[in-house]
Amino acid sequence: MTVLCHSDELEEQSARGFEVGGQRLFAVKKDGVIYVYRNSCPHIGIPLEFQPDEFLDLEKQFIQCANHGALFEMETGHCVAGPCVGQTLTAVEFQLDNGLIRIL
Ligand code: FES
Repeated sequence: MTVLCHSDELEEQSARGFEVGGQRLFAVKKDGVIYVYRNSCPHIGIPLEFQPDEFLDLEKQFIQCANHGALFEMETGHCVAGPCVGQTLTAVEFQLDNGLIRIL
């Protein structure tokens, strides 16, 4: 199991990208809850961000793909606007172990 970081290192309404064993992932925190997704947009299967750790829209309400602007709910990864509406980011299973985010 791989540790991404401590949950306290992730600020509220923020995201952080990771590369683990050749896989790109990112974690977001909303209302104190953490969600982890594969960093691959369902539109054309490329990473979502242009700048490191920039995964959210300006209002920090949605995950936003920098490529063509798709918006995803943080809680579900469901795309609610943009070219892949109705599709979903792939959730990654993890455990919180004494606050450490561990990928299973
Ligand atoms: S690659 Fe994400 S919206 Fe096109």
